Amino acid sequence: MYILGLTTMGDSAASLIRDGQLIAAVEEERFSRKKHHSGFPFKAIQFCLDHAGITLKDVEHVGHYWKPWILRHKAMQAAKAAFVSRDMFKARADRGLAQVSESYLGMFKHPRRLREHFGPSNFKFHFLEHHQTHAASAFFVSPFETAAILTWDGTGEDTTTLFCRGKANKIEVLKRIKLPHSLGQFYSAVTNFIGFDMFAGDEWKVMGLAAYGTPKYYDFFREKVLTTNGSSDFKFNVEVLDHHLAKHYKFPDGIVNELGPGRAKGEELTQHHWDIACSAQKALEDTAIYLVKQIKEMTGEENLCMAGGVAFNSVMNGRIFHETPFKNFYVQPAAGDAGCSLGAALLVWHQKLGSPRSFQMKHAYWGPGFSNEECRKVLDESGLKYETLPDEELLPKLAKTIADGAIVGWFNGRMELGPRALGARSFVADPRRADMREILNHKVKLREWFRPLAPSMQEEHGTEVFGVEHHDPFMITVIEVAEEYKSKIPAVVHVDGTARPQMVNKHVNPRYWNLINEFKKLTGIPMLLNTSFNVQEPIVCSPQDAINTFKNSNFDALVLENNLVIREAQNSE
Ligand SMILES: [Fe+2]
Repeated sequence: MYILGLTTMGDSAASLIRDGQLIAAVEEERFSRKKHHSGFPFKAIQFCLDHAGITLKDVEHVGHYWKPWILRHKAMQAAKAAFVSRDMFKARADRGLAQVSESYLGMFKHPRRLREHFGPSNFKFHFLEHHQTHAASAFFVSPFETAAILTWDGTGEDTTTLFCRGKANKIEVLKRIKLPHSLGQFYSAVTNFIGFDMFAGDEWKVMGLAAYGTPKYYDFFREKVLTTNGSSDFKFNVEVLDHHLAKHYKFPDGIVNELGPGRAKGEELTQHHWDIACSAQKALEDTAIYLVKQIKEMTGEENLCMAGGVAFNSVMNGRIFHETPFKNFYVQPAAGDAGCSLGAALLVWHQKLGSPRSFQMKHAYWGPGFSNEECRKVLDESGLKYETLPDEELLPKLAKTIADGAIVGWFNGRMELGPRALGARSFVADPRRADMREILNHKVKLREWFRPLAPSMQEEHGTEVFGVEHHDPFMITVIEVAEEYKSKIPAVVHVDGTARPQMVNKHVNPRYWNLINEFKKLTGIPMLLNTSFNVQEPIVCSPQDAINTFKNSNFDALVLENNLVIREAQNSE
């Protein structure tokens, strides 16, 4: 039985499962080349169907990640905002109206849209609650038979935080927190306050900057903005910091009087902004830990699954993993809304149809892959000079090039689902070179100097590098680097002595593990610096995307499966 899962607004994506096994999953942005593509995922669906060799006729159920009719709460919030300020009412009403007309009402047309585009089919269409699809996307692919599940994001239909318990093939909702109390919207509003774009992926930047600051304004955030005092839930005080207003760079007096005006876009970043980022980050972490302890008390479970955009906060995750009483944790690589497409398909399969669980997500490689022949065809058309080498020659040669200072665009196997490059579409470089972060951020990726870079490392070396065993294949946790190791790998250690490693398992991605192994043979270091293979656009998907990026930017070598392009060779005719 085939079930299709869809995310159709903001990080649109499609996932296809067959008898409960994931077959294919991909974000629409990888095809449209528009970051965070929002809209019906036509191309992602087409890929999933093609990959399985089926048509829409073969799909029996479609799960959708949103119930478009839960609008009442939004209307109530807009009405309440009218009592706070005219600006706030206008911002909320404008956004609400736009959403209703463009998005929510449009969702009712999705079944028809599918049949019009992909041909007649008798599928049954299920509108599912957003946070329950987040919960399903984590728990149903986790290794756990039972677990506590916490999902948190900007907002779903009206829920922002969901507490659940998962047991076998069922998820039971225990408690929900609704708008305006949202950890995601709090973080997005802070993102805008320090002059970046919320919802455009800039939330990462706040976490990056936080490492450089001191929590000077922590008390303000915890006492006035994000509070847990005397209540069993957290409260986000939108009278002091409202993300609807933040969208327009308007900030209430409550925050301006304490922190000064928000930073305008492009204005110089100073210690003041780092301190705000650091304070807000710590406020988020402490609130999150408070909620995690609550769900531990509610469930008594030993395992915790998390999803929703907030679960991408790897610094927060590191603290949750180390400071809360849960023994085991699971966050899958598409913890944001793209992953809801997978959750929607699984929710139909398990919760609606009662099928038992049989799938566990151990890797992120669910997107398109290309054969050597397909790569060579595109290379031949591109006019680039290349050589084709077997792995026994290619991998040692690459390792040597990397150790000599090269940055390599590494294109290997099926593309990753989720925002992290995990050795399928990655730039790889030498983590020992202190200047590599500056070179990669500034000269290759054309982005801010403070963006951290992370290592991909052989899983079996965790204890040596961190002093403790560490298992995180999805780069979702920040962990302290052992003192004696910090100076060996300066490019991937954050200013506060931590790193966000991808632990590479020999059996899960053998080819990537072997490349790292060749680098270790030469240098004694069991890791490579790894950052996503893209320059100011979505991660590359096809060989053509990779070649376009190679031609338009400034890195040294491109590997498309077994085909190697060296930049110098292009000018040596
Ligand atoms: Fe979400």
